[in-house]
Amino acid sequence: FEQGTLSGQQVCITAGPTREAIDPVRYISNHSSGKMGYALAEAAAEAGAKVTLISGPASLAPPPRVELVRVDSAQEMLDAAEKQLGNCDLFIAAAAVADYRPASVAEQKIKKNNEQMTIELVKNPDIVATVASHPQRPFTVGFAAETEKVIEHARGKLERKKLDLVIANDVAQPGIGFNSDENAVTVVSADDQQRIDQTSKHKLARTLVELIAQRLKPNN
Ligand code: PMT
Repeated sequence: FEQGTLSGQQVCITAGPTREAIDPVRYISNHSSGKMGYALAEAAAEAGAKVTLISGPASLAPPPRVELVRVDSAQEMLDAAEKQLGNCDLFIAAAAVADYRPASVAEQKIKKNNEQMTIELVKNPDIVATVASHPQRPFTVGFAAETEKVIEHARGKLERKKLDLVIANDVAQPGIGFNSDENAVTVVSADDQQRIDQTSKHKLARTLVELIAQRLKPNN
């Protein structure tokens, strides 16, 4: 993309997994590495944006010129996102947020006294849907990580969460999606869909930033 594609824009990106505590030493999480979200943050910064990266636990170095906000749980990620809302023109949700968390966190390490145990889970807040329904709504882009009916489910998320764009990610395919260095996606909007073939997350992020910037401009 041309340098300056996103100059003057403030961009907030969520990345990585969240961790939902069970007790002081255990948690529920997923296989997100943060690579996709960090690559997007790097590409947006290279395109001239001021970038805040809200990241769950990931072992990646923050990209240059990107402000990193580290969080653990979905609730912390939501709090961090809401804090940014006043100064955010574009919000991209690449994080794999845990949909549920344990209903209560045990104060002490749970002992293995029983043959079976049950953990009761309650629903986490939906961060990207909360952002998209805010009065000071930024242009809001979500991902959809799906293992079947990828486009259909992505369209469902576009409508239900009131998003401007959804990046549909088939996470059942080997070599792309969670934790791999490459990805392939379909960018879904209300009136269109566009396939981007498998490539490095780094290159894909640059293509996505270009596509998003084209959509962002008419609104400004
Ligand atoms: O991190 P990597 O290893 O590089 O892997 C990249 C990725 C596969 C994690 C990424 O490309 C991706 O698809 N991210 C979204 C993962 C996900 O959890 O998708 P979902 O279909 O469950 O959620 C839909 C959208 O809602 C996502 O934008 C998600 O960030 C958001 N969400 C979901 C639940 C929730 N409580 N709050 C949210 O904001």
